[in-house]
Amino acid sequence: MAKVKAIRGMNDILPHETPVWQYLERQVRAVLSSYGYSEIRMPIVEQTDLFKRSIGEVTDIVEKEMYTFEDRNGESLTLRPEGTAGCVRAGEEHGLLFNQAQRFWYQGPMFRYEKPQKGRYRQFHQIGVETFGMSAADIDAEVIMLSARLWKNLGILDAVTLQLNSLGSNENRLKYKEDLVEYLMQFHDRLDDDSQRRLKSNPLRVLDSKNESTQQILRDAPVLADYLDDESREHFSRLTDLLDQAGIHYEINSRLVRGLDYYCKTVFEWVTDKLGAQGTVCAGGRYDGLVQQLGGKATPGVGFAMGIERLVLLLETLNTIPESEKVSFDLYIAAESKEAQSDVMQCGEFLRDQIPGLRIKTHCAGLKNINSKARQTGAKLILLLQKGEAGVVGTLWSEAELIAQVPLSGLPSLVAQQWQLIK
Ligand code: HAM
Repeated sequence: MAKVKAIRGMNDILPHETPVWQYLERQVRAVLSSYGYSEIRMPIVEQTDLFKRSIGEVTDIVEKEMYTFEDRNGESLTLRPEGTAGCVRAGEEHGLLFNQAQRFWYQGPMFRYEKPQKGRYRQFHQIGVETFGMSAADIDAEVIMLSARLWKNLGILDAVTLQLNSLGSNENRLKYKEDLVEYLMQFHDRLDDDSQRRLKSNPLRVLDSKNESTQQILRDAPVLADYLDDESREHFSRLTDLLDQAGIHYEINSRLVRGLDYYCKTVFEWVTDKLGAQGTVCAGGRYDGLVQQLGGKATPGVGFAMGIERLVLLLETLNTIPESEKVSFDLYIAAESKEAQSDVMQCGEFLRDQIPGLRIKTHCAGLKNINSKARQTGAKLILLLQKGEAGVVGTLWSEAELIAQVPLSGLPSLVAQQWQLIK
C-alpha cells in the first residue's frame, strides 16, 4: 500500500534541526523580555471574515492563498495566514486594547497556499510582535530597534538591510492611488499581466512588480513620498531621527508598500541577499485603522513578524550558530564494563543534581563497541564508567582527548569545569 506523505510545502522539523530552532526562539524570547513584551497565544483557526476584513479582499493572500473550509456547522473558517488579525481580534475581545498601551508577542505556524520554494512554504512559522495604543513614532522605532538588537545578538546584523517607507494616511494613499492609476494607464499595454490585473484591483501592488518593462515605466511614476501630509511627514522624520540616534542604518525605499492592506504611515522590511528570491526575513509596520476596521474603538498599532524558516536558513548559511547549540546534550555517559552498567543511571542523576543545566544523555543499550558508539552521538564530553574495588571510577573525554580519570566524588567539579570550557 502507498505510504501517506506530508502535504507539499508543509515540513517536518526533525530532531537534528530543532536545536537551531530552539536556539533562535530562546534568543528572540530573551530580547522580547528585555523590552517588556508579554506573550499572547491565539487559535490557529479563525472566522474567514476576520482575514478578509483586515488583510483586504483584493490582496494575494485573501484572493488565492488562504486555506478556507466549512466546519460541520457550515461556518467558513480559515487557517491563519498571519498573526496580526487574530491578535487584534483577541485583544479587542478581551478588552485589552482601548485606552491602554500594550506590547504583545506571539509565535506559531501560519498557512498560505503559495508555490513552495526555498524559504517559501505553505506552513511556515512566525514570531510576531504587536503593540497597541501608542501613536508617536517612538514605538515604531522601538520595534525596529528590538529587531536590530536581535540580529546583533544572532550575529547576522551585517547580512540584513532595513528598508523603510511611509505610506502616509488613508487619504494620502487614496490621492496617490488615483494619480498612479492615471499615470500607469498611459502605458497599460506595456505592463505585465499581473500588473494589468493589479492596476484594477490593488494599484499600489504594481510598485512591487519585478517585470523589467513595468519597472522601466515605474521609474517616472509619481512617488508616494510627495503625497504625505504634514503629520505623516513629521512622524516619519521623528522615526528616522530616532533610528539615526540609535545608529541603525536604513534605506528609504519609496516603492515599499507591503502586501497587506492594513498599513498606514511606517512600513519596513529587513531583507538579506543571502537567501535568493525569498530574502525578507522580517516585515511590518503601523496599522492605526485596523482595530476600528474590525469593530473596535480607534486604537493605533504597530508590529512586525519574522519568518523563522528564513532566519534558520540565514543562521545556517552564515554559520553563526554556536557549536554547543547544535546538539541537544552536553555529556554522554556509558559503562565500559558490565559491572558498571547499573551505575550509569545513578551517575546521571547524581550529576544532574550537582550541575544544574548540564544536559546529560545516558547509554541505555548494550556494551558492544561502546567507545565508537559514544563518539557517534556527537557528544562533546563523554564519560565512561568502570567499577573497581574502590568503587565507581569515571574517565572523561572531550571528544578524542582524554581529560582525566577520577572517582565518582570527583566527577562534579571535573565535569563542571570541562562543561564551562566547551560552552
Ligand atoms: P508578511 O510580510 O506577510 O507580514 O510576513 C512576515 C514574514 O513572514 C515575511 O517577511 C517572511 O519572513 C515570513 N513569511 C511570509 N510568508 C512566508 C512563507 N510562505 N514561507 C516562509 N516564510 C514566510 C505579516 O504576516 C504581518 N502580519 C506582519 C505584521 C505584524 N505587520 C504588523 N504586525
